[in-house]
Amino acid sequence: MRRAATSAAHRLDRVSTEIRTVEAGELQLWGRSVGVAFLVPPGPEADEEGRRHDPPPPGRAWAAVDGERFVGNCATLQRTVTLPAAAGRDCPVAAMAAVTAVGVHPSHRRQGILSRMMGAMLQDARDRGEPLAGLEASESVIYGRYGFGVATFAAKREIATARGAFVSPVAPADVRIVDPDEASKTIPGLFAESIRRVPGQVDRPETVWERYVFADPSDWRRGRSANFYAVAPDGYAIYRSEDLPGGDAARLHLREVCAATPGAEAGLWRFLLDVDLVEEIVAFPRPVLDPLAPRLADPRRLRTTMLTDFLWLRVLDTAAVLGARGYRSAGRLVIAVDGPDDPATGTWVLDAGPDGASCTRARRGTSADLRLGLSELATLLLGTLPASALASAGRVVEERSGAIDEADVLFRAGPVAPFDMTTF
Ligand SMILES: CC(C)(COP(=O)(O)OP(=O)(O)OC[C@H]1O[C@@H](n2cnc3c(N)ncnc32)[C@H](O)[C@@H]1OP(=O)(O)O)[C@@H](O)C(=O)NCCC(=O)NCCS
Repeated sequence: MRRAATSAAHRLDRVSTEIRTVEAGELQLWGRSVGVAFLVPPGPEADEEGRRHDPPPPGRAWAAVDGERFVGNCATLQRTVTLPAAAGRDCPVAAMAAVTAVGVHPSHRRQGILSRMMGAMLQDARDRGEPLAGLEASESVIYGRYGFGVATFAAKREIATARGAFVSPVAPADVRIVDPDEASKTIPGLFAESIRRVPGQVDRPETVWERYVFADPSDWRRGRSANFYAVAPDGYAIYRSEDLPGGDAARLHLREVCAATPGAEAGLWRFLLDVDLVEEIVAFPRPVLDPLAPRLADPRRLRTTMLTDFLWLRVLDTAAVLGARGYRSAGRLVIAVDGPDDPATGTWVLDAGPDGASCTRARRGTSADLRLGLSELATLLLGTLPASALASAGRVVEERSGAIDEADVLFRAGPVAPFDMTTF
């Protein structure tokens, strides 16, 4: 009896855990808290690792505080994400609250702390006028309940370089292998230019390049070489090498290959596939529809060893994001977004065309053409999956005959499928 009373009191304590923003002087404590949920015990090593990471911007880190102790944590970073473009245009960009460092201590799990922290982060992003939130999910079952939907998928690919002949010859890119200092002067600009042709790409502020790419600490390499930076006039590749058993040959771990045009990317691939002493290239993340595959004379040799969700988006301002993305054809759809009492739900009239789009709240009584939830809206926004695929899975309902076909055409992403290669 006494025991039961104690444990009830304990539970009550935990329910009263406070969610609040973190002060600048609390960032070390907060960093330690982040480590715990990701199985890094608090201590000097965790502190050292914490110093390598970019601190969250002021007012954008939250803690769940139980008494004096931090038992949960999260933050949002100011980022942008590219949206599908109209024909012949660059991708427009939208501000995105990039949700990161989400964790709840094992001692406090499943008591609703994540739900409360998510509520705080999404409201803060709305208050700042950010129309989207985004994240990468440690587990794909967690975030749909908060209205996030898969916006990009990523594949892991492997290819034996001896099987890398192209159907039509392509000259290797005019590449220079440069040191980190020189790389830091050219690569960020090439990246920024290249991502404007791909929807779903998250931007990289300077500190991200410095801390997560060019700093390249040796204990992040997992037995592989330091980064190689291969820079061409209109693209670049970043990779590490790993000696294969026996030591006569190597495997390249390709972190990214990024180019301003499909031809420039093909030239970079030709260069990579011809590096001497290399038997195999392993590349992650790669687009699901890999532009390398149709170039290969023996496409089956480009093996997919993993396929995963990558970027998840949550629409916070439906009118802003549907109005901002580009469309390659004209159409009008009334879209009912079902869900909780939320500024992004309700019925919306989308009037879109190649020269621009408007999205406004529908007048009361307007009948919907399509009915869906917030997660499906996020997936449609980038054209990640066609409306018909979501409808077949029972996740989009056609309220007017023909509306699914129209949505398939209207929401098509364009020549390059959505893809993101930036973690945050
Ligand atoms: C994932 C994590 C943050 C969840 O925190 P939490 O405070 O336990 O979550 P909540 O209690 O707010 O859960 C809310 C809902 O999500 C569900 N849920 C939370 N985590 C889940 C998981 N990993 N798998 C399945 N369901 C999960 C809960 O069951 C609950 O469902 P309900 O609303 O139907 O009751 C926490 O388990 C954690 O820190 N894990 C390790 C680090 C990690 O994976 N972080 C996420 C990085 S993207």
